[in-house]
Amino acid sequence: MKQAADHNRVKRMQWWHDARFGMFIHWGLYSQLGRHEWVMNRERIPLAEYEKLSWTFKPKPRPMREWARCAKQAGMKYLVMTTKHHEGFCLWNSKLTDYNAFQRGPGRDLVQEYVDACREFGLKIGFYYSLMDWHHPDGARCAYDEKARRRFVDFTRGLVRELMTNYGKVDILWYDVSWPLRSPEAWESRKLNAMARKLQPHIIINNRSQLPEDFGTPEEHIKAEDEGRAWEACMTFNGSWGYLPYSQPEDWHSSRKVLHMLREVTAGGGNLLLNIGPAPDGSVPPLAVERLKPVGRWLAANGEPVYGKIDRVTEAEWNPLGTWTRKGKSAYFWCHWWPGKTLSIGGLKVKVLKASLLSNGKHLNFVQGKDRLILTGLPAKCPDPYAGIGVIKLQLAGKLVQKLGAGCVILPPEKKRK
Ligand code: GLC
Repeated sequence: MKQAADHNRVKRMQWWHDARFGMFIHWGLYSQLGRHEWVMNRERIPLAEYEKLSWTFKPKPRPMREWARCAKQAGMKYLVMTTKHHEGFCLWNSKLTDYNAFQRGPGRDLVQEYVDACREFGLKIGFYYSLMDWHHPDGARCAYDEKARRRFVDFTRGLVRELMTNYGKVDILWYDVSWPLRSPEAWESRKLNAMARKLQPHIIINNRSQLPEDFGTPEEHIKAEDEGRAWEACMTFNGSWGYLPYSQPEDWHSSRKVLHMLREVTAGGGNLLLNIGPAPDGSVPPLAVERLKPVGRWLAANGEPVYGKIDRVTEAEWNPLGTWTRKGKSAYFWCHWWPGKTLSIGGLKVKVLKASLLSNGKHLNFVQGKDRLILTGLPAKCPDPYAGIGVIKLQLAGKLVQKLGAGCVILPPEKKRK
């Protein structure tokens, strides 16, 4: 039984692993205030005052097409949008609450528009859904009042059912914060997710309904989960998930930094979900567009090590000028500080059969000594015009193994030493 379930998971998640790179979108009433998506809680804004934002929220027509275009150009393959963040405002036409985009200011079903844009641009569709709800009268009460818990869990299930029913095929269900209920039993998460899977048999579900489900979600840091467990690092672009007009250009990750993150997740067998916080009218912050364009161009020229089936890098060391990713017997050296015409790499314990520059396939000459590989005839300047990261592909006789250690010789094992 377990094996069948695992096999099904491997199949279901194939596209997601191959995709590697997605866009997170935090957009809601809070975007109008531009002071982080936790603004209601952090500034203790009274509910009645905050609710007014539901009437003044007036996005321009179909801004999601801009998100989708931007994501596509950046080399991203899927999107995950906040259908309801902690504030409790539903971006879709819900029958279960009138605190929703259709019945308030926007007068439109923004989830439908989002889904349409994803489909138009050929991107997979993810729905973020916050279990925590600062608006619903039972959202906190449910922690100590059984009747309130019953109502709130039913409300939650009803909303998730709408999302899983009304928009055709949905690819990812991305839960967030499960405050204030303390167990999956209290949330009735098994039942909730079984319903989602019944309605969307292909769906991939994250681990934030207090059950592990399909993948882990390290947040604002990159840390591989144990081998065999899928994971996705979610990262802000500028320190806030929601729109932050006060951010400075230096707060934004550079294109190089985004590629470093992408390399790091790839080496650990994970995914990267990079966030943008659109403005209240829905437009993408210009700095996000500016930083993502080179990323997309870089990936168009160097995407081979990123997309598709990759292998974790398990036996490599740090190298000052670059770092590794791996696909079977191919190793990719992402050189972020280009050394000029010659590059030396120490400690490779596997025979190199061929070397080339990934972006143009140009063959590179090399000599491999006992403990040192020397590549020659490289371009004098970094050949990558987009981010200054040139990739050297090595075809190896086996799997990548690099051993250096702290000393300049490898010491014999402890018991053999005199
Ligand atoms: C945190 C925050 C939330 C954000 C999320 C993204 O849980 O509460 O604002 O949506 O992280 O992972």
